[in-house]
Amino acid sequence: MCGIIGYVGKNKALPIVLNGLKFLEYRGYDSAGIAYVNDKNIKIVKEVGRISSLESIVDKNEDTNVCIGHTRWATHGIPSTINSHPHKVGKFTVVHNGIIENYLSLKEKLKKENIKFKSETDTEVIPALLDYYYKQEKDILKAIKIVKEKLEGSYALGIICEDDLEHIYAIRCGSPLIIAKSKDGNFIASDVPAILEYTNKYLLLEEGQIAVLSKNNVIIYDNNLQETKLKELTFKGNKDSAMLNGYKHYMLKEIHEEDQVFLDTYNYYVKNNKFLNTMPDFKKYQNIHIVACGSAYYVGLIGKYLIEEYADIPVKVELASEYRYAKDFADKNTLVIFISQSGETADTLAALKKVNSEGIDTLAIVNVYGSSIAREAKYNLYVKAGVEIAVATTKAFLAQTTLIALLAIKLGNKIELLKEFNNLDKYIKELLNKDYKKYAKKLFHHNEAFFIGRQVDYALCLEGSLKLKETSYINSVAFAAGELKHGSISLINNGTPVIGIATKEEIINKTISNIKETKARNAYVLYITSRDIKDNFYDDKIVLPKVHDIVMPILTVIPLQIIAYEVANLRKCDIDKPRNLAKSVTVE
Ligand code: F6R
Repeated sequence: MCGIIGYVGKNKALPIVLNGLKFLEYRGYDSAGIAYVNDKNIKIVKEVGRISSLESIVDKNEDTNVCIGHTRWATHGIPSTINSHPHKVGKFTVVHNGIIENYLSLKEKLKKENIKFKSETDTEVIPALLDYYYKQEKDILKAIKIVKEKLEGSYALGIICEDDLEHIYAIRCGSPLIIAKSKDGNFIASDVPAILEYTNKYLLLEEGQIAVLSKNNVIIYDNNLQETKLKELTFKGNKDSAMLNGYKHYMLKEIHEEDQVFLDTYNYYVKNNKFLNTMPDFKKYQNIHIVACGSAYYVGLIGKYLIEEYADIPVKVELASEYRYAKDFADKNTLVIFISQSGETADTLAALKKVNSEGIDTLAIVNVYGSSIAREAKYNLYVKAGVEIAVATTKAFLAQTTLIALLAIKLGNKIELLKEFNNLDKYIKELLNKDYKKYAKKLFHHNEAFFIGRQVDYALCLEGSLKLKETSYINSVAFAAGELKHGSISLINNGTPVIGIATKEEIINKTISNIKETKARNAYVLYITSRDIKDNFYDDKIVLPKVHDIVMPILTVIPLQIIAYEVANLRKCDIDKPRNLAKSVTVE
């Protein structure tokens, strides 16, 4: 989604903001722009496409110490220079992340006041409203407070006003925004990587607060415009975590961090084969709902299979975008778990707020520290994946899968299963170092692919299929293996790629029968299994280490991720920033 960075300080602002924008690229965008103070004026430069295009039309040496920048992921109006941010109306210039849901009615009212709009965006009403109320109040803070009350939806805003060219104003509601102080100046940003080159200390702006940044100072105001303080947080990862470090793509780099991510997550919750008290006791719940989007939803499905099997608790898994509007069957005996890497996904957050408002216990499994979902939930379990930059999630998926397996053990009080995690990092490393390019070469020229598997392998098929389609644009679908012949097998033809996953010993033969049905129709079969079988129902096979079912999904996902990466690489796709996608989906 959109990214915001702003700087006010002693140094030249343009190189800092343009550089910061590059660290927000991972969020997904289709145009970029900046507004800066120069010669007592606000100058705006915007361009469709990559930040490098914007950079090519900006003189980085221009003398400015105040600048706000933005990457836009189009929601209202096509990617165009006019629709790109910053937007200026009257004296106010604004960059915005989020969506203003009532912008049409606001726009109508403002038009009646003779205010003219240039773009199709929802954002443009914000500077228009600010300008309108500023004319009445003659006070920027008061105008911002009034506008906050008028806006419905989600937003993080960076604001500059022509009457006060030494400050950046910022507010947030539902969209992330951090404030960072450094000895040479102060920042606003959508995420920590954008400011890591200058400082690892930051403040998390609370909803409704207004931050006012000058060269030497940051003042935070509460809802009543009284000064207030925020606790300074320290980003624990290092700067390198947001750098490529020699890898061609972040996706590959992040996959190769998985052995460490596994250890970090496991060791955080378990010591000497015992749970630390960082894992609360959830014994009292009689049923569980898991709610999430995309890959996090597939982790939820893995969780269902593991929790039902090892803890004997019924689990319902639902997409957050559906759950938030569904009839609610959760009660006081239900624990509702929300899984999210970013902790900012709009549908997941909205579903969480709904459940909270009903007084039902909620648990967030989140990667980003202090994110909205983490702050909203009653309980929190952080995964220790570190900063994930590539749009397609990999290491966070593996960390979440590790955590959900630990949770199944905790819920089922099956402490003896913790030993199954010993040495898993070595198996992960082994799998990371295998050559998957040879399989990618057989897949990359196809425009379709099928993944089939049963039970927990079906959840992994869904993830493998999503990874392939989002990074390589191959139309790939996943089926519960037994379901294929109820219609979709008609699509299997000479050479159609079928990836069959079979790791659960008791049902391997059942899945093999389904794979054979595709082979009989001349599919190209890549068989991924923990049981090495010599047979002619497959063309290629990947044999996984034989480990306990509780940890198997942590390994199974690795070849799926790397194959998706290698295929996308062969197809010369924009792997870290697939078209139309955003890292953190902060709109409904
Ligand atoms: C796919 C992917 C997405 C996310 C989904 C939820 O690779 O990354 O499907 O899993 O958008 O995002 P989070 O986990 O941030 O809530």
